[in-house]
Formats: sequence, C-alpha cells, structure tokens
Amino acid sequence: MAHVYDAVQLTDRVYWVGAIDWGIREFHGYATSRGTTYNAYLVMDETVTLVDTVKAHFKDEMLARVASVVDPSRVDLLISNHSEMDHSGCLPEVLDATGATRVLASRNGVKALQAHFHLDGALEAVDNGQTIRLGATEATFVETKMLHWPDSMMTYLSGEEVLFSQDGFGMHLASSERFADQLPADVVRHELAKYYANILMPFSKLVMKAVASLRAMNLPLAMIAPDHGPIFREDPMGPVEAWAHWAEQKPTRKAVVVYDTMWHSTAGMAQAVAEGLAEGGATSVKVMPLASAHRSDVATELLEAGALLVGSPTINNMVFPTVADVLTYLEGLNRRHLVGAAFGSYGWNGKAVGTLEEWLDRMGVERVADSVNLLYVPDADGLARCRGLGRQVGQALVERERTC
Ligand code: FEO
Repeated sequence: MAHVYDAVQLTDRVYWVGAIDWGIREFHGYATSRGTTYNAYLVMDETVTLVDTVKAHFKDEMLARVASVVDPSRVDLLISNHSEMDHSGCLPEVLDATGATRVLASRNGVKALQAHFHLDGALEAVDNGQTIRLGATEATFVETKMLHWPDSMMTYLSGEEVLFSQDGFGMHLASSERFADQLPADVVRHELAKYYANILMPFSKLVMKAVASLRAMNLPLAMIAPDHGPIFREDPMGPVEAWAHWAEQKPTRKAVVVYDTMWHSTAGMAQAVAEGLAEGGATSVKVMPLASAHRSDVATELLEAGALLVGSPTINNMVFPTVADVLTYLEGLNRRHLVGAAFGSYGWNGKAVGTLEEWLDRMGVERVADSVNLLYVPDADGLARCRGLGRQVGQALVERERTC
C-alpha cells in the first residue's frame, strides 16, 4: 500500500498523528465552513502514549501517521482527554490495532467511555492533579469539567512543556499547516472566536475559573496542542487570554440585527433599524438576513456585541421558522449582558412580535425600545418608527458603555 500519511514532529518526543477533515461543513448545528481536524498526539517515551484519537472513519489515517513513527503494536497507553465521539469514536478499534490495553480518563470520562463503548477492564480513572511518569516525561491531568463536557480534562506533559488541551483553545479549521503562526492571524482569531461562541459561551463562568487556574499554575509552556485546528507555539498563552476576554462577555457598542422576511417588509424594517442604530451611537452594526446567515455565524457575531435586535414576519400565528431556529440556538448559548428590541410585519395576525418579546425576555436580553409591529408594507411613518427603535438601542449601548 502506498505511503500516504506522515506524522508531524512537534518536539523531541511529541508527534501530531491526527486527521484532516477537509470536507465537513456541518458539525451538529455548527457550520464548519473551513473544515476541521481531529488531532491526536503520540508521545515517544519509555511508555509510548497516544493522547486522544480521531473520529471513527479517520482511524486508518491516524494509525498510518502513528506507523510513520513507530509500529502501532508498540503503543502502550491511551489517554482520553475527552469522550466525545470525534475524539473517541474509534477507541475500541485502536485498542485492537495497537499494543495499548489501558485507557486513562477522568472519572466522568471513564463513565462516558463505558457508556459509549462498554470497554470493561481497559478504562482507568485518573484524578485532578495526578501525575504519571512516562519515562523522561511526566503527564499531569487537569480536570476541566463542563469545558465543554463533564468528562473534559487536559494533560500537561512536563519535559516537553506541551499542554494537550482537548477541545480547549481549539477551532474548526482544516489546513496543511500544523501551527497557528503559519496561518493568517485574522483567520485563526475568527475561527477561535467562532468555536468559543458556539461551544464554550454557555460555560463562560467556568472558563474564567479554568483560565485563572492555568495562570496560577504558571506552567512552563512551549505549546498548546488542542484537539481541533492548529497548535499554538508562538505566544502559547495567546488563546488563553482570548478566552479570558470572551468569558467576561463585556458589552460593546456593536449591534447584531437578525431577521427573516416573506415579502421584504421585515427586510426594509431591518435596514431602517440598522440606520437608527448607527445614528444612536452603535460603532458597528451587523445585519444578518437568515436566508443567508447561518445560526453559528450569528452566534459568532454576538460574541463581541452589546445588542441583539430580532425581526420576524408573522406566519400562521408564529415567528418565521428560521428566526425560531436561531433564537432556540442562541437561548442555549446564553450570551449575557445584551440589550435589544423586536420588530416585525404581519397581514392579519401580528403574534410573532409578541413571541419575540417573550423570547428576548427569557434570554435575559434587556428590551430598551418598544417593539414595532407593522401591517403589511411599512410606510414612511413605519420606517421612521423602526429607525427610532434602532436609535434608542444605539443610545442604550452608549449609555451602557459609559456606566460599565
Ligand atoms: Fe471535539 Fe467536544 O468534541
């Protein structure tokens, strides 16, 4: 068989042996528009150790990369930092294909892996702070519960000074480059932010605690090696500081306007709202028609925003389906400290705007302007009301920034 896949050496003893998923565009509700990687790492020490594995159908690619360094039968130990299937889906097959008979995971990781794969006998729980010697290196386990699953942990490899951070500080980005400093900085920042917004935002308080712990540990750090996307070697604390910033969820003067439309009435209202926002003092206004904007991109734009404005026509007494979709998604992500407002158009029953109001209230978005709900097609007075709604929200952003 032709030799296709190689490992990439990261340090004296650590190799990247993951897989690149160039074609994936949907990841349980998240638009992975640049694909992704599933990173696994091989530690070549007296105990040859594989840290995390890959999505099931990428198993052969990972094993081929392992084989480019060492015969897989010489792998002694698996460490599972995170049991979600993109990192564990081929675990039983990897146990069969390598010499490893033990899988180390957090206590919750053992429960999750057992429930997924029923691997009696192979699973061993490790405790937060526990260290095991692999030879010249030592692996220390750091639990990061609910970042983003109950089982999540990170593994720090002393000697090589690498933090294997599982989903932490990761991003969905397929590339031939393995290091973040080899990629355009704006792309790396955007994809890191998108991952945070869509996966970590609900756990921001826990992120703050985890970041504080990492800072307090003051580990010598050569690299952060996550389970998705590029590895950070230049300024390895850079993504940690970015997470710390996003976890604060500080309000800004940016506004996000999301809407859908049937006959362009709500679209016209959204444009007037956007003009009013800028007039009121918003420094950035992102208008996102849901016919083209994906829910995960809305979440990303909202990460560094201070206002959410939502528009919907009434259809069959309900909000438009795409609007319900995005609000369902955003409610789960639990972005705090937002102001906002609702608007929409209708023919004979205008219930959608009331539903939007209830939804924004439930999400904790402070409505700082009366809603605008217009019959059929907005006239000049209706558009002026929309502009006024935007202006009020813009002014609230200015006021909030002044008092925060
Ligand atoms: Fe990349 Fe939570 O799995």
